[in-house]
Amino acid sequence: MIVFDHVTKCYRPGEPALADVTFHVERGEFVLVTGPSGAGKTTLLRLVTREVTATEGRVVVDGVELGRLGRGRVQALRRRMGIVFQDFRLLPRYTVEENVALVLRALGWPPGRRRERVARVLEWVGLTHKAEEWPLALSGGEQQRVAIARALAPEPRLLLADEPTGNLDPDRSREILDLLRQAHARGTTVLLATHDEALIEASGGRRLHLVDGRLAP
Ligand SMILES: Nc1ncnc2c1ncn2[C@@H]1O[C@H](COP(=O)(O)OP(=O)(O)OP(=O)(O)O)[C@@H](O)[C@H]1O
Ligand SMILES: [Mg+2]
Repeated sequence: MIVFDHVTKCYRPGEPALADVTFHVERGEFVLVTGPSGAGKTTLLRLVTREVTATEGRVVVDGVELGRLGRGRVQALRRRMGIVFQDFRLLPRYTVEENVALVLRALGWPPGRRRERVARVLEWVGLTHKAEEWPLALSGGEQQRVAIARALAPEPRLLLADEPTGNLDPDRSREILDLLRQAHARGTTVLLATHDEALIEASGGRRLHLVDGRLAP
């Protein structure tokens, strides 16, 4: 599903944020990307979404080498991924259900199927009763559950989460982890970047540990 083959990423010449990183993630795996602040976790995820390109080496996602992709194909690639961020990134001028529905509309889902799917994912994250609220009227944990519902609504094969519990207390963090694990149990490949030790221990996934941009053995 994801291949990194001797990948180096330098934002500035001679200062690698990632250095000679090689790994595979198989379809259906749950993988943690761990390491201290500045170790390169976000950079690794941004290489997968092709927000940045490798300075050296190859990144292959779903059989496609990202270094060679044109702009249009990058859009298509991203649409097959669900992405969750630390700061939720819901659209404040749209209701909770609209935030989820907009993604499906962009993908061309017809209105009937869209409504059905929005109702289903909001029920899954336990927020049916908040469907018509504005995102900013929700707690942080609730906003993140909406963001997860939105990311998973199109049933992406790959879910990327960058410190999704960074702004949440331990109980809320466990709820988010449970949702990610449920998605994984249904077949989604999950890549979760975090430095939250409690979460790492609880998740039990395979670990890619970065130190100063290098993969620790
Ligand atoms: N856009 C950028 N321009 C220049 N340098 C950057 C950029 N983004 C990240 N870096 C540098 O790359 C290195 C890795 O950063 P990255 O954000 O990947 O780390 P991280 O492991 O996600 O850290 P954190 O846990 O704080 O989120 C750091 O030294 C950082 O300063
Ligand atoms: Mg980061």
